[in-house]
Amino acid sequence: MKKIIKPRPTVPAEMSASDSIYYRKPGNESVVGAGTYGKVFKAIHIYTQDKVALKKIRMEGERDGFPITAVREIRLLQHLRHKHVVALQEVMVEKNECFMVFEYLSHDMTGLINHPTFTLTPGHKKHLAKQMFEGLDYLHRRGVLHRDIKAANILISNTGILKFADFGLARFYTKSHQNDYTNRVITIWYRPPELLLGETQYGPAVDIWSAACVFVEMFTRKAIFPGEGTELSQLDKVYAMLGTPTRNDWPRIVDLPWFELMQPVERKKRQFETQYRDVFTTAALDLVTKMFRYDPIKRPNAEEVLEHPYFVEEQPKPEQAVELEQVSGDWHEYESKQMRRENERRRKEEYVREREKRKATEAGLKDGKGEAEGQMEKKQKISAGGGGGGGSRPASREGGKATAPTTTTAVGSHARS
Ligand SMILES: Nc1ncnc2c1ncn2[C@@H]1O[C@H](COP(=O)(O)OP(=O)(O)OP(=O)(O)O)[C@@H](O)[C@H]1O
Ligand SMILES: [Mg+2]
Repeated sequence: MKKIIKPRPTVPAEMSASDSIYYRKPGNESVVGAGTYGKVFKAIHIYTQDKVALKKIRMEGERDGFPITAVREIRLLQHLRHKHVVALQEVMVEKNECFMVFEYLSHDMTGLINHPTFTLTPGHKKHLAKQMFEGLDYLHRRGVLHRDIKAANILISNTGILKFADFGLARFYTKSHQNDYTNRVITIWYRPPELLLGETQYGPAVDIWSAACVFVEMFTRKAIFPGEGTELSQLDKVYAMLGTPTRNDWPRIVDLPWFELMQPVERKKRQFETQYRDVFTTAALDLVTKMFRYDPIKRPNAEEVLEHPYFVEEQPKPEQAVELEQVSGDWHEYESKQMRRENERRRKEEYVREREKRKATEAGLKDGKGEAEGQMEKKQKISAGGGGGGGSRPASREGGKATAPTTTTAVGSHARS
């Protein structure tokens, strides 16, 4: 019998020198995320070659040992297993540092939305939205509120599969009776009005609002309610788009803790339909309108969202973004921020170069003109015998202003105070 000799497995040279079972490129090269409590690194298992994301748990400044947010995130993720929830593989302690080890996904929604060339088709958007609400349906059925849904916390694989990440603010909630929870959750632009008005007895409808914000962002590539960071300016942004809520829209609004405090000075008219008529199809517009109902009780739950005609009737059908396989590089919020910074730096450099060039031409012109003017003056003196002078100045530098770098801030500044 012939003996089949399998080649001995070998570890690539750069990896064999790795101290860790998870090899990562040195320095900042492997960073794919820098969040509130630690960095996220892309790494590779040196034997299986599987890619992983290492989320470093920041221990600095922790007086009571392991940070509670990390404990919560780990405990919660251990209970969750779903196609649309990122898988926590293990927790690793290495050289006095602690990491959560996740399956790796090449992109997140912020990265994809800001990709310089790749654009999502209407079918892709529908497929991503479908996966988002399927994931949300699972979480809510399991009794979990995510409480930090936003584009950067939604991962997308290079074959177009979507998964929820960042369970640092998530928690189990009781469906049978209302408990009090903190209302200081959810990144403010994605925070629903009930939380902005101080509600502490809330449920899954808060995630539906945030998911609706992400849905809109997929179409417009920018946040729908970019407030200025305070609850008041955030409510202002929402009211300016959806109109000031009436008691008819939301009977319980008057009972909310900060209702009196947050009373708007003037009543705003609804702009939403006119602003978004051309962005969405009829069904998509109807769905978003329902998810943005002021009264959380009136918002559809994830299951109802998935039954909406936008998903089940209207064309095109959902289409998996398999084209992402051809996209080179990884696109997370981190890389897209880097790209923006790099573009700004280039624009600045170009501006400086242009200015220098203009200065040089100006100087040349001045010299040239100076000579000509001098000769003219001489001629005039010869012919008229009197003093002339005062030639015209070279062109002003105003052109430079037009090419000056514009700092693009994500935060809009036209909210009223
Ligand atoms: N499994 C993963 N695969 C690839 N990238 C990931 C993964 N997990 C997280 N990231 C990237 O790292 C970023 C930060 O991760 P995460 O949101 O979990 O951390 P965070 O510290 O809680 O951030 P923040 O609180 O600021 O939202 C994400 O926005 C995402 O781009
Ligand atoms: Mg995050």
